[in-house]
Amino acid sequence: MVSQTHAPRKPEIPSASELKKRHAAQAAIVHVKDHMTVGLGTGTTSAFFISLLASHAREKGLTLRCVATSDASAYLARASGLTVVNFEDVKSIDLAVDGADQVDGRKNLIKGYGGALAREKVVEYAARKFVVIADDSKLCAHLDKPVPVEFIPFAKAAVQNSLSALGAKSVRLRLGSDSEPYRTDNGLWIFDADFGKITGPAKLEGLLGAIPGVLACGLFSQNVHSVIIGTQKGAKEI
Ligand code: A5P
Repeated sequence: MVSQTHAPRKPEIPSASELKKRHAAQAAIVHVKDHMTVGLGTGTTSAFFISLLASHAREKGLTLRCVATSDASAYLARASGLTVVNFEDVKSIDLAVDGADQVDGRKNLIKGYGGALAREKVVEYAARKFVVIADDSKLCAHLDKPVPVEFIPFAKAAVQNSLSALGAKSVRLRLGSDSEPYRTDNGLWIFDADFGKITGPAKLEGLLGAIPGVLACGLFSQNVHSVIIGTQKGAKEI
């Protein structure tokens, strides 16, 4: 009889980027207190925070309620053991924690590359405290990445024209893996509009939000309490 031996499974080594995201997420845990209602972001950095939050709540015996900004985050949170409630059923959000695609030194953000920008804006602008967690590759002097804009498909041509009129150099309809227009959790579509260097994020946010047919844009210029930047060695709060 041949006996089989199995080599012990090698522990997975996190990539440099994963380590930085984890450091940022870990540093945000200090903002969590017992009995809080916590807004959960969306994306890979938020996923680290959700898992760490669940472990922290378990270890410390905290009672928390969470509101998720996407179906994916709600699923992950519940699977991790957190209690997830509907946004409409909470009176206030004590703390929201979420990632970002780009952050400048004045705490302006571009968000929405994960497609959850509208629910993120609703939850994070309503939060008493909004903490951003990001790896150091997201930090920049001036926002200059394409800005996601979620809109109703009916208004596609009109929204595209308005974005160009506001100075967008290119306006791309986001596609899913099936090459069909990417649909958000709200059933809407997203344009990624490239404005180049954005010198007035608050003004542009207002203008984009006012386009008829637009639900929300991925510029966030308000309500950020602090930004935690994860590095290879740890995290710093700005
Ligand atoms: C989701 O819609 C986004 O706003 C994310 O917060 C953002 O894309 C950051 O994602 P990562 O943490 O995956 O980089």
